[in-house]
Amino acid sequence: MLCGTTSALTPEVADKMTAKIIDGVAVSGSIRAELKERVAALLAKGMRPGLAVIVVGENPASAVYVRNKMRACEQVGISSFRYAFPADAEPEQILNLIADLNIKDDVHGILVQLPLPSQFSIPQIVRTISAEKDVDGFHLYNMGGLVVGDTVFPPCTPYGVVKLLEHESIPLEGKNVVVVGASNIVGKPMALMLMQRDATVCICHAKTRDLAQFTILADILVVAAGQPNLIVPQMVKTGAVVIDVGINRLPSGKLVGDVDFEGVRKKASYITPVPGGVGPMTVTMLLANTVASAERKSNGIRSLDHATS
Ligand code: GUN
Repeated sequence: MLCGTTSALTPEVADKMTAKIIDGVAVSGSIRAELKERVAALLAKGMRPGLAVIVVGENPASAVYVRNKMRACEQVGISSFRYAFPADAEPEQILNLIADLNIKDDVHGILVQLPLPSQFSIPQIVRTISAEKDVDGFHLYNMGGLVVGDTVFPPCTPYGVVKLLEHESIPLEGKNVVVVGASNIVGKPMALMLMQRDATVCICHAKTRDLAQFTILADILVVAAGQPNLIVPQMVKTGAVVIDVGINRLPSGKLVGDVDFEGVRKKASYITPVPGGVGPMTVTMLLANTVASAERKSNGIRSLDHATS
């Protein structure tokens, strides 16, 4: 169970407070600069990291994400290879391609953009990708590694959140963390990664009754529910760190997260904006995993022999 903690802030101080905005674009920029140097070191040894991206169908959001990922690869010197299939492609076609990519020397990461059309079984696709090239961190081996704190490739979005918290020197040990959203891609791995860092973690989800009774206890609140304005100021403890993983497009075309940013920023100590918070970090950590994969190959490390977190 979560234990409540009281805020050290007086109401007068809290009234004047506005949160520090965590700049995901700037943090991404500095990580990408480091990655460029690591790519240069690999190039000097005759290896260029390579990422294969498989996209099926015409989902417009997926097309934008894939384009952003490939542009980011180019920016740091990673080769990217795009494999596009029509929406009615047979699962066998993709499974066969993955089998080929698993043994290709110039491919260090394989990513199948989700969602996939209904004829696909996502677990089957994900388990076909070699754990050594699973830079999304979705393979059972990598997911299982999170449970014991010994994963090879952490899933990119929660990995990005951890990097943002580290960048701001926000301590995790003993903190009450509430994760809203229990997806396999974000919520569950996020909770495991924070537990590994000795936080006290509570996961809430769509069936949670009275969400606010949990969120109000959070020193650190991570929201990945896909619902605009789900988190309003009354649900947030004064001085909390609020990380908004949501990306929602309103009918007006505006991009917003899951948090009422203008309201909550007056109550929180740190907050991530949407866009410009967690989003750029997801792509950056994909690059980081791809570079790490190439380095592992260059050093002769096999995932199933040896893992690092
Ligand atoms: N679709 C939405 N987010 C992701 C992601 O992080 N990886 C993949 N492969 N597909 C996604």
